[in-house]
Amino acid sequence: MAEKNAGILGMGHSYPEGILTNADLEKIVETSDEWITTRTGIKQRHKAAENEYTSQFGTAAAKQALERAGLKPEDIDIIVCATTTPDQIMPSTGALIQAQLGATNAAGMDVFAACSGFLYGLTMVESMIRTEQIKYALVIGAEVLTKYVDYTDRTTCVIFGDGAGAAVIGPVNSGKGILATKIRSDGRYEEQLYAPGGGTKLGTTHETIDNRMHFFKMKGNELFKVAVRSMADISAEMLEKAGFSVDDVDLVIPHQANQRITDAVASRLGIPEEKVYSNIAYHGNTSSASIPIALDECIESGKITEGSLVLLTAFGGGVTWGGTVIRF
Ligand code: UT7
Repeated sequence: MAEKNAGILGMGHSYPEGILTNADLEKIVETSDEWITTRTGIKQRHKAAENEYTSQFGTAAAKQALERAGLKPEDIDIIVCATTTPDQIMPSTGALIQAQLGATNAAGMDVFAACSGFLYGLTMVESMIRTEQIKYALVIGAEVLTKYVDYTDRTTCVIFGDGAGAAVIGPVNSGKGILATKIRSDGRYEEQLYAPGGGTKLGTTHETIDNRMHFFKMKGNELFKVAVRSMADISAEMLEKAGFSVDDVDLVIPHQANQRITDAVASRLGIPEEKVYSNIAYHGNTSSASIPIALDECIESGKITEGSLVLLTAFGGGVTWGGTVIRF
């Protein structure tokens, strides 16, 4: 029997109806549409309502992905939910999504790798499918970041948005699907993007709450250079591993962190702007959801078709990063 690769069989995405524009943020913190647009490329982001939470968006995206893959929830062997903003600390959001879907034969779990989480999930299930330990997986990136950002901190609250994207991964003919993938981390950069309070190190107390320690804190300009270098280097490494040059790539989908980071990665790789997808203007940075939302938008709009060679690359808190080459 010919060896199979793991590939994307169907995708879906979902986000809250609520929108927070730069003009809305001007009323909340000392910022301007001009600053946000020129420094990040963001014009608006989706924001969950009080009664909306991460698993709901993950489940909606997963349902769409299953339908498009022509599979039933019971066909899925594993659900990997990449999230940094779980519904609650326990049980995992992956297990909650499993119940919401009725995926009765699946193991549900979370991957905690910030903005690189979707590529972490893809990389994990890729080898499980290729070695036939499992047949079908759901990899989901789902976030409600707006409940973890501090709306008194203009350095973070203008960046993040909410949403989810999901992919059904299963066996495809060799030569297609995931051709190379790698994930990395370097925890020495812990304090460049973190939420210090609420864990076992600094448990929730009145003091941690008063000091707003449960919210994300970010040293954005220090992360910037590491992000560009890490994404460009791992992209080049994965292209070489898969046996391609940058000229072979039809589309690059980088994690949507900042338009300036995307532009710098493209220029470092020598890939023209028109081959690099960006939706940051209307979604902001949705962390682990950004790549699957962008991928699904590209499939829906016909930017990705059968045979397209697509490069994915991510970078996030931890720090974590990754690169994946896929032939559709
Ligand atoms: O998702 C993956 C992980 N995250 C990243 O990779 C994020 C990477 N970093 C970035 O995207 C950018 O560093 C930011 C968008 C976060 C910030 O842009 P920057 O060009 O690096 O700005 P900066 O932090 O160097 O700040 C420049 C100035 C500062 O004022 P002074 O000290 O020059 O007077 C900030 O206080 O801009 C000020 N500033 C703002 N002004 C208006 C910071 N945030 C704002 C704001 N509105 N929202």
